Amino acid sequence: MQTVSIVNVTSYTGLELMRLLAEHPYFQITSVTGRSAAGQRLGQVFPHLYALAPGGQPGAGERLAHLEISEEPAQTDLAFVCLPHAAAAMAVQELLGRGIKVVDLSADFRLRDAALYEEWYRHTHPAPALLEQAVYGLCERYRERISTATLVANPGCYATAAILALLPAVTAGVVSASLIVDAKSGVSGAGRGLTLGTHYSEANEDLSAYSLGGHRHLPEILQELEGAARAAGQSYDQGLRLTFVPHLTPMTRGILATCYAELHPTAMGHLPTSDEIRALYKEYYAGEPFVHVIDQPPHTKWTYGSNHCFLYPLVDDRSGRLLVLSCLDNLVKGASGQAIQNANCMCGFDERIGLQGAAVYP
Ligand SMILES: NC(=O)c1ccc[n+]([C@@H]2O[C@H](COP(=O)([O-])OP(=O)(O)OC[C@H]3O[C@@H](n4cnc5c(N)ncnc54)[C@H](OP(=O)(O)O)[C@@H]3O)[C@@H](O)[C@H]2O)c1
Repeated sequence: MQTVSIVNVTSYTGLELMRLLAEHPYFQITSVTGRSAAGQRLGQVFPHLYALAPGGQPGAGERLAHLEISEEPAQTDLAFVCLPHAAAAMAVQELLGRGIKVVDLSADFRLRDAALYEEWYRHTHPAPALLEQAVYGLCERYRERISTATLVANPGCYATAAILALLPAVTAGVVSASLIVDAKSGVSGAGRGLTLGTHYSEANEDLSAYSLGGHRHLPEILQELEGAARAAGQSYDQGLRLTFVPHLTPMTRGILATCYAELHPTAMGHLPTSDEIRALYKEYYAGEPFVHVIDQPPHTKWTYGSNHCFLYPLVDDRSGRLLVLSCLDNLVKGASGQAIQNANCMCGFDERIGLQGAAVYP
């Protein structure tokens, strides 16, 4: 049994961790923090948590519901940090100093280069010395390094969808350097904080693109795809060129990313077929418990509340382009589920523990 804390449980990702960890047999939540709710019991602030019952023991949910939300995390084996960027780095530094392993859900330790972080996040990195020890928390790529890490940078939600969609193609070198990711997210991707754009009357019955000048997940996607291509010996001499256009859609959860890339002819002089591409993707993700290469376009509903990601790769013969549709729940595989997958890996548990539930459907 490992004790864990959730730092900023009053966030959507923190609450999602509560929901998922309540069923985890080896992680025991012993500490939760939350700025605006400090001093109150979890169940007082979030009445739905009264129903939690870890390990299926009747009445045990009350222990969680009665946990007091504190200002500072107590000593635990591992902490999940669900703070906004910058505030997260300060908390992470302090937790690591106390010998606590950390999974950070913010963007603070995802980019390896502090200068790149400063360019995209527009402030000085609060703890650049920790960047070197941080491991990017995509088990499908860094499983071994995560298993010995003390600090894991949980990937961004859009970044997870886009990277998983394009990794097999760029590492096999079957596509050119020019990539397009057109992604749609539900409003919980923007967090619990109130903004005009996420008001019901603004977001409902609406579909709009945003961050056209460059979304912050763009450098993260490039960093990971370029690194993977290099490691696989693929030479994209000038680097990859990515156009990434995120959209806000009137649903609570879910991301659907449609990714496009120009295909290279095979050694036989013809473009790869959809069957060949699908075989490449199936081989790449063979044995992965949470990534599924399927034969039809996925729906966000298939992932609602689950840690699964569905990929549908196909060739558009008329244009010679590869299309990959990638679908996940931004709060689960895009955040808290993936964080638990990483924590399982860091603590030597089976990655799937606590995460095997299917989506809530319909
Ligand atoms: N939402 C997603 O789908 C998603 C996916 C992947 C990663 N992430 C990342 O995960 C982290 C948490 O995201 P979230 O969407 O769950 O957050 P959120 O719901 O937006 O959390 C908002 C809460 O954070 C607290 N907060 C804000 N600034 C703070 C500060 N400086 N110090 C302490 N508390 C502060 C506030 O709580 P009080 O009201 O208690 O003050 C606020 O209600 C972020 O770094 C985010 O980028 C989010």
